[in-house]
Amino acid sequence: MPRQLFVTTALPYANGNFHIGHIMEYIQADIWVRYQRMMGNEVNFVCADDAHGAPIMIAAEKAGKTPQQFVMDIAAGRKPYLDGFHIGFDNWHSTDAPENHELAQQIYRDLRDHPDGSLIETKTIAQFFDPEKNMFLPDRFIKGECPKCHAKDQYGDNCEVCGAVYAPTDLINPYSALSGATPILKSSEHFFFKLSDPRCVKFLQQWTQDGKLQPEVANKVKEWFSTRQNADGSTSEGLGDWDISRDAPYFGIEIPDASGKYFYVWLDAPIGYLASLKNLLVKRGQSYDAYMANPALEQYHFIGKDIVTFHTLFWPATLHFSGRKTPTNIFVHGFLTVNNGEKMSKSRGTGLDPLKYLSLGMNPEWLRYYLAAKLNARNEDLDFNADDFMARVNSDLVGKYINIASRAAGFIAKRFDGKLGDVSADGAALLAQVRAERESIEQLYEGREFAKVLRETMLLADRVNEYVDANKPWELAKQAGMDARLHDVCTVCIEAFAVLTTYLKPVLPTLAAQVEAFLCIQPLSFGNVSDVLGTGHRIGGYQHLMQRVDIKQLEALFEAPAAAEPEKQLPGGEAIAPTIGIEDFSKIDLRIAKILNCEAVEGSTKLLRLTLDVGEGTDPQGSPITRNVFSGIASAYKPEQLIGKLTVMVANLAPRKMKFGISEGMVLAASHANEKTNPGIHVLEPFTGAQPGMRVR
Ligand code: 2FM
Ligand code: ZN
Repeated sequence: MPRQLFVTTALPYANGNFHIGHIMEYIQADIWVRYQRMMGNEVNFVCADDAHGAPIMIAAEKAGKTPQQFVMDIAAGRKPYLDGFHIGFDNWHSTDAPENHELAQQIYRDLRDHPDGSLIETKTIAQFFDPEKNMFLPDRFIKGECPKCHAKDQYGDNCEVCGAVYAPTDLINPYSALSGATPILKSSEHFFFKLSDPRCVKFLQQWTQDGKLQPEVANKVKEWFSTRQNADGSTSEGLGDWDISRDAPYFGIEIPDASGKYFYVWLDAPIGYLASLKNLLVKRGQSYDAYMANPALEQYHFIGKDIVTFHTLFWPATLHFSGRKTPTNIFVHGFLTVNNGEKMSKSRGTGLDPLKYLSLGMNPEWLRYYLAAKLNARNEDLDFNADDFMARVNSDLVGKYINIASRAAGFIAKRFDGKLGDVSADGAALLAQVRAERESIEQLYEGREFAKVLRETMLLADRVNEYVDANKPWELAKQAGMDARLHDVCTVCIEAFAVLTTYLKPVLPTLAAQVEAFLCIQPLSFGNVSDVLGTGHRIGGYQHLMQRVDIKQLEALFEAPAAAEPEKQLPGGEAIAPTIGIEDFSKIDLRIAKILNCEAVEGSTKLLRLTLDVGEGTDPQGSPITRNVFSGIASAYKPEQLIGKLTVMVANLAPRKMKFGISEGMVLAASHANEKTNPGIHVLEPFTGAQPGMRVR
């Protein structure tokens, strides 16, 4: 009996295009789904836009659109990414669709009317309210002075300068980031899901600790049962109740029997998984209820490590206590950085723009292969490194695997009329070895150990190439009387190539389809690794299956967008930016900084680590308060040239986490827009008399 699987990825917020992190998650899930299908299992693989919430409502207003229109416009841009990277969702839906409204409201009613006592309760809470916009403000839209370090313009939930966590009401001189108005405290009734109810605690402890979750995920979750962080930075014991309502105006789903109240976006977002599935089944004329009622149905969600709480606590509790099936498992992955995070800044070339990748004619399967080569079952971060990418694609994928076919296929076509021959004992032994890995490859795919799948497969490719090197078909071809051996050796290569293609097919679906066409065979699957070809089988003519990565493509991929026309006229290669008012300029706090120390950064050729004094005095222990800043100026300065000098820094830039540590500001330097054609970086130095801490205006 084929297994029945329902698989999703996290639903992306409908407020922007996909970035490479989304694509990585979709590729990971897509590989797993394709593997399952090759095993004969039946899968429904769905996703949707996560449409609701205050940020989307506000973004829509700014864009002069209704939230519905805004979300639809974002949805319209999804296809080129999904098709481009061969991501085969069976359905793409929206959490604002009718199915989701219905399901979310029904699930809520089931929780509220639970036969053993309601899991919903209401409490009146006071929150900041914008009197000009007439709405309650989400924490992210309240700003003010940090109560701890007094940094200005910090968000309502935490300070990006000193890292303090607090409640919005702790901010000094709070203001609404929407209107600038001073918010007022206003009370309103909120609906809570009683996660602290002993029934919930018991269920979740069991559900999260029964061994299904990845060990590192289960351990993290365990901590939440003992302590949790409150909005004001303090901690409490045990699971807290979850605030699932928001007051109008809010773009979301109305709470039944509670006028003017909407579900918080995170209540209805995962229900969107079910809504998308239901929409798919109904379109196919199948019954959603019957499908969900199958006790053998397995349900999996691929997600990133930032949304584990929602998926391991709120979501299973929501499902279980509304009388529904809970997920079989949640598969958590880490974050993707690009080129060690060094190139992530916009001005120096963006991270890795998926559409730019495609528009440069780069093969989507290179990226699928490269990401698969780095993915495993743990939630570790991984880095896209351009040099590593080129090496793995060119040396392994093309140099080892594709090479096997290109070394043998020509002889089969030219010398043997396209027909495969008999295989003698040494070749048969090699083929047996290659085929014997099948079960292990299957298990690795099942366990999402894709890096190991590719490592094993490339080791097998090495064995085959060693066999080719030992037998030298190009020499056999020149020797009289060696036709039979040439036929034998090339047949072994083609047979082995078919098996290796099977192993790679979940990762490289279009390449596998090309191979199937060239070998004139039925679709490869794990069930048929031994019998798709055989003596006498006629294969088609070999056409080159895959190009190598060209370094120029990678350079273009990471090059900053070309300067617009007028920019060429200035020596700096950049036009003057659009006009701003003095209020915009005054937001940037520029200070004289003294470079107390400067040193090379191990592992980076571009960065120097600067220790800066911006006149912030000493801490309670009497040590001087300094800033740690990483600056991409190593090509222009040796550390000793900078130590002791004064310069200018942006002192109120949000700290940025880099591979080598946190950077707490930015030093000003002049350079040409295109550092490749016009190298040179010139750090700014003030005239004599300036003191650390003086503001530059
Ligand atoms: O973090 C996010 O991007 C959310 N939009 C993910 C939602 S996943 C699911 F619950 F819908
Ligand atoms: Zn602070």
